[in-house]
Amino acid sequence: MYENPRLILDSSNPPEPGSFTWRSPSNIAIIKYWGKYGLQLPRNPSLSLTLAASCTDTQLEYEMREDDSGGPIDLEFYFHQEENEAFRAKIVAFLESLTPVFPFLKQLKLTVHTGNSFPHSAGIASSASAMSALALCLCSLEDALFGTLREPADFDRKASWLARLGSGSACRSIFPHAAVWGETAVVQGSSNEYAVPVGDLIHEKFRDFHDDILIVSSEEKAVSSRAGHALMEGNPFAEARYAQARQRLGVLFDAMRAGDLETFGRIAEDEALTLHALMMCSNPSYVLLQPNSLAIIEKVREYRAETGHPVYFTLDAGPNIHLLYPGEIIHEVRAFIGDELAEFCENGYVQQDWVGEGPEEM
Ligand code: PMV
Repeated sequence: MYENPRLILDSSNPPEPGSFTWRSPSNIAIIKYWGKYGLQLPRNPSLSLTLAASCTDTQLEYEMREDDSGGPIDLEFYFHQEENEAFRAKIVAFLESLTPVFPFLKQLKLTVHTGNSFPHSAGIASSASAMSALALCLCSLEDALFGTLREPADFDRKASWLARLGSGSACRSIFPHAAVWGETAVVQGSSNEYAVPVGDLIHEKFRDFHDDILIVSSEEKAVSSRAGHALMEGNPFAEARYAQARQRLGVLFDAMRAGDLETFGRIAEDEALTLHALMMCSNPSYVLLQPNSLAIIEKVREYRAETGHPVYFTLDAGPNIHLLYPGEIIHEVRAFIGDELAEFCENGYVQQDWVGEGPEEM
């Protein structure tokens, strides 16, 4: 969609060396993307809240190469100040795949410094924050060299499209507060190719919302998201699931516009359990929940029944619990976590997060 052979630098008039740095957050899906086709296109639309504290900082440095006749991508890569060959190889493959979009990448020597704001062994997925931060740096680079992304809406859309190619759910991290990715009749302009912002359309309650991530286990998952998406292709419930997600997105979106916490919470929890149920009925089947995940879920439901406080859980493709609640009950909920939930977390670890303003250029 964005192939552009004209984005080539004139080697007789090379640009000055420069760099860009973006901080980009993770996001938590309320309606889950699970199942894909083609180049990371979603089988159903998804809706997420953009987070604030769990983020990746990425700096992209560039200078014209001596020999700019188009050899392989020239990249030095540092993760938390250390060279990391496994990550470098992934990013090189990603950038190579982007050369029809950014032909100039092969004319440059690139250096990437990247790092996460959260401990890397916390079991918090970083692909959404990492790929969105890189996509934003690439758009800044294109704009600096060619002046082609001056309009903020064009810039964000291209960044979201690029982030999606890197890691599907990353496309939703580009926008403040909340985003929808995937075609749905309820959001005008929605697309399978990129996410669109919906933060301005939802009730302000959801812009002051918290997501405390209870780390049940920081171990790497036994089955990756990539493998999980692929297993949806043979899942006997796949079509029913995609129809359900489309229907739920409509109900959720109405509830979020109206500020209806109860419907929001019911759908958030149903979606989390549906995601894990799909894993349990894949072929081969697998389970990523752990006994402590279930213990926390039970505690949350008990607490809600006893206090009436609107505290809900959701899950990613892993055992950690995301606790969702409005800012006005933060003191009560933080006390509940400390008194009753932290004991189920690995070393008592909880990553406090909340709905944020989206990426920022540093
Ligand atoms: O973006 P991926 O390929 O890592 O898949 C993400 C899948 C879930 O986190 C489980 C759901 C979602 O929509 O983010």
